[in-house]
Amino acid sequence: MIAIACDHSALELKKEIEKLLDDRGLAYKDFGTHTTDSCHYPIYGYRAAKAVADGECDRGIVICGTGIGMSLVANKVEGIRCALCGDPYSAKMTRAHNDANMLALGARVTGVEVARMIVEMWLDTPFEGGRHQTRVDMITEIEKGNGPEQ
Ligand code: RB5
Repeated sequence: MIAIACDHSALELKKEIEKLLDDRGLAYKDFGTHTTDSCHYPIYGYRAAKAVADGECDRGIVICGTGIGMSLVANKVEGIRCALCGDPYSAKMTRAHNDANMLALGARVTGVEVARMIVEMWLDTPFEGGRHQTRVDMITEIEKGNGPEQ
């Protein structure tokens, strides 16, 4: 199950991504917003991130104008590694190396076709583990207040 959320600026792109998920037979849960009325992205980004952190959803996609606000919100939730991606290469590498469990997109920055490529790459790329697991574990430790030794 994929959590998905957007703010008013990204409703159209969210619908496009949901179409892509439908085409691929992937289930998703839409945490809003559902209109183009101006709204506060932290509400919707938090709902999606919480669902991933709690295990209700396996991964999440959050979309706002730049993707920055949504990624900041998601990364405040314990256990979330949300990557803001504007290109498919970053989407591939953030799965392979960072095990990013959430993806942020900027609807006012990234065109729909590129966004689709980003999502497909992010969905299809497995985490490589190994030395990258060590580094992801270090991120988790930082989250718990244990910074890495210098
Ligand atoms: C909304 O105007 C805009 O601030 C929001 O979509 C997002 O880009 C914030 O980071």
